[in-house]
Amino acid sequence: MEKLLADAFGQDGEYLTHEQKHRLLSRLLGRMAHEIRNPLSSLHVHVQLLEEDLARLQPATPAGTVSRLEIIHGELHRLDNIVKHFLRLARPTDLDPAPVDIGRLAGHVCELLRPEADAQSTELSLEVRPPIPVLLADGSQIVQALVNLVINALQAVEQRGRVEVLVSATPTQDEVFIEVRDTGPGIAPDRLSAVFEPYYTTKEQGSGLGLWITQQILSAHRGALRAANRPEGGAAFTLRLPAARKDPASG
Ligand SMILES: Nc1ncnc2c1ncn2[C@@H]1O[C@H](COP(=O)(O)OP(=O)(O)O)[C@@H](O)[C@H]1O
Ligand SMILES: [Mg+2]
Repeated sequence: MEKLLADAFGQDGEYLTHEQKHRLLSRLLGRMAHEIRNPLSSLHVHVQLLEEDLARLQPATPAGTVSRLEIIHGELHRLDNIVKHFLRLARPTDLDPAPVDIGRLAGHVCELLRPEADAQSTELSLEVRPPIPVLLADGSQIVQALVNLVINALQAVEQRGRVEVLVSATPTQDEVFIEVRDTGPGIAPDRLSAVFEPYYTTKEQGSGLGLWITQQILSAHRGALRAANRPEGGAAFTLRLPAARKDPASG
């Protein structure tokens, strides 16, 4: 841990590129999450044992005590979720790039979330506008990024709306765009950049980490993520990824 910290902030730190610093910080956060996980699971077990002790000592546990224990359980669960998010964070630095058919991948994400959409009577549609160049990307991470965006869109719509996923590319075939649009309430104009901050959430059960992680994944792929409001209402998140170079020698 100290070595990682020294690497990240030590005297050599100023010579590190932005990318290297990002890598180090992600590894550091992943490592911290990993180390927090063990005492956290031990806490889970001991709270449970405490509950059993209490039940034995005092069969009718007072309501106040029960609710305090419930709060502890709830908060431990929340910590657990945060730790899991950070553990995943450690991953985007270890990209496993391979040629990716982004249209197919977007189709896969839509099928994955179709039951969610159906359950809230929301139309989930995919449009792919060919030609789409092949991407060199980490497919599972791009899936995670897209899942985050589509889930947010579904949550914003709530009931009986529309979520559209649109895959397109620049005419020069240099870049691919994946847009996730919804018919939800949109985002307050002064919050358009805040939504990417870690822990920013307007949801009771939200972690506020989804968009942040999505942005980390995109930046690890030298891509970008942008939020906007649609003129007709609702939000649109656009994910931009560079296409695979056709001739890597000429660079
Ligand atoms: N499609 C969307 N429409 C409206 N607001 C959104 C949308 N996607 C994200 N947001 C806003 O951005 C916040 C952060 O999103 P996210 O990082 O995924 O965390 P979470 O979903 O846990 O709240 C959300 O709580 C919400 O306020
Ligand atoms: Mg989210």
